[in-house]
Amino acid sequence: MFIESFKVESPNVSYTENEIHSFYNYETTELVHENKNGSYQWVVKPKTVQYEFKTDTQLPKLGVMLVGWGGNNGSTLTAGVIANREGISWATKDKVQQANYFGSLTQASTIRVGSFNGEEIYAPFKSLLPMVNPDDIVFGGWDISDFNLADAMARAKVLDIDLQKQLRPYMESMVPLPGIYDPDFIAANQGSRANNIIKGTKKEQMEQIMKDIREFKEASKVDRVVVLWTANTERYSNVIVGLNDTTENLLNSIEKNESEISPSTLFALACIYEDVPFINGSPQNTFVPGVIELAVRRNCLIGGDDFKSGQTKMKSVLVDFLVGAGIKPTSIVSYNHLGNNDGMNLSAPQTFRSKEISKSNVVDDMVSSNGILYEPGEHPDHVIVIKYVPYVGDSKRAMDEYTSEIFMGGKSTIVMHNTCEDSLLAAPIILDLVLLAELSSRIQLKAAGEGKFHSFHPVATILSYLTKAPLVPPGTPVVNALSKQRAMLENILRACVGLAPENNMILEYK
Ligand code: NAI
Repeated sequence: MFIESFKVESPNVSYTENEIHSFYNYETTELVHENKNGSYQWVVKPKTVQYEFKTDTQLPKLGVMLVGWGGNNGSTLTAGVIANREGISWATKDKVQQANYFGSLTQASTIRVGSFNGEEIYAPFKSLLPMVNPDDIVFGGWDISDFNLADAMARAKVLDIDLQKQLRPYMESMVPLPGIYDPDFIAANQGSRANNIIKGTKKEQMEQIMKDIREFKEASKVDRVVVLWTANTERYSNVIVGLNDTTENLLNSIEKNESEISPSTLFALACIYEDVPFINGSPQNTFVPGVIELAVRRNCLIGGDDFKSGQTKMKSVLVDFLVGAGIKPTSIVSYNHLGNNDGMNLSAPQTFRSKEISKSNVVDDMVSSNGILYEPGEHPDHVIVIKYVPYVGDSKRAMDEYTSEIFMGGKSTIVMHNTCEDSLLAAPIILDLVLLAELSSRIQLKAAGEGKFHSFHPVATILSYLTKAPLVPPGTPVVNALSKQRAMLENILRACVGLAPENNMILEYK
């Protein structure tokens, strides 16, 4: 059964006009490697830490600025939000289609809140804590191409034509601000669309982005801005001692107009200076050490990298299932072809390499979780191929072959084929990223013994469900398994309203 909303009544939770305050017992374990009478043994001790959470329930008017606003993802998200807000429906050859948010965790998924008369009761994910309504978002952003958003939507060839016609009047007046174009970082084939560019040195370009954010905030009368990179995949920046390894070196390098500082790094720094969360939806290493250091110092949220939309999402489910079932994946081969501008940009070896890296590490945590199947350091063969095939446009093909060793030397091969509009998978993820980034900036917590409330660590691991290569603070485990990432996010939000983590025990029926 489905319910629209609920309120938690508990001595651990109090609601005031502007705040939800909860006490929460975090049940965890402490591990000790003990020497008992000359031999070492592992001892696991259950441990309870009391946390307090407080969530500001006043919703800001939210502005979202997309870098690469006129791309397939940027135009599709903007179109989708307007279509939902305006309640637009359109004729397809099959039926009259209503705008929806399918594929968005916050808008279209549910959480279990309990059982009632033997039935499981589910409520919308977004009913857990107050979240900004997508209808109220003001969009803006940058693009190195000057197409207005209506023309950008037409160029993307993603949405049905009847829908495009209805959306055009809303989108024609939306024009991206000039972007930072550096041909050294993206494929040479992008040169022909680069006609909307900020001139000047790296420092001047960064300062222009800061000014753009301030002006957008003022003109659109928003209280809070989140910036998200959905522009072209860049090549990796070289991380070099003295260049970008510390904030000081990075800022000096910008002063010197060093060529190795990427446009996305300039955008990230501008956002940190403006105290605006910055999320990287592409695979490149925007967050060089000097950027992370500044974000931590200024306590400004950064998150990334690379949207987890299709093939990798499936991989982080399937490998988790196989390894969790005691089956040993030994070879994973992922082949894609796509024909959109992203595919064209990825046809250059340097940009493809960024994607290859971000797609490669996704099974590491699952493999290392099972020392019965894998020797230390052993890893399945994992190969990734991406080809540009213009004819298929945004409709990406993903073919995957998983070969595993099963009982008694047997082999099992699973082959999958997926055809899907890439941008229709990515757009709802972008929405979730900005909404959750905004929400997480309204949550404060403290553990027993900590004097003051503080926000989450600025490197936002809470967003990892939505990214292929989750950025984590140094020394923090990377979790790629999708179900664990979802549980982490859901359970933290549950803790904010004093609900226990979903443990799936259903003891009341045992
Ligand atoms: P796209 O190529 O259609 O859009 C990118 C836009 O960024 C273009 O309009 C381009 O003109 C603009 N641009 C390039 N450099 C810029 C700069 N420095 N400043 C401002 N604008 C700039 O690509 P699409 O399909 O929208 O994807 C965007 C990014 O998202 C790509 O990096 C892609 O790899 C990544 N991504 C996409 C996924 C998906 O669509 N399912 C999944 C995972 C990641």
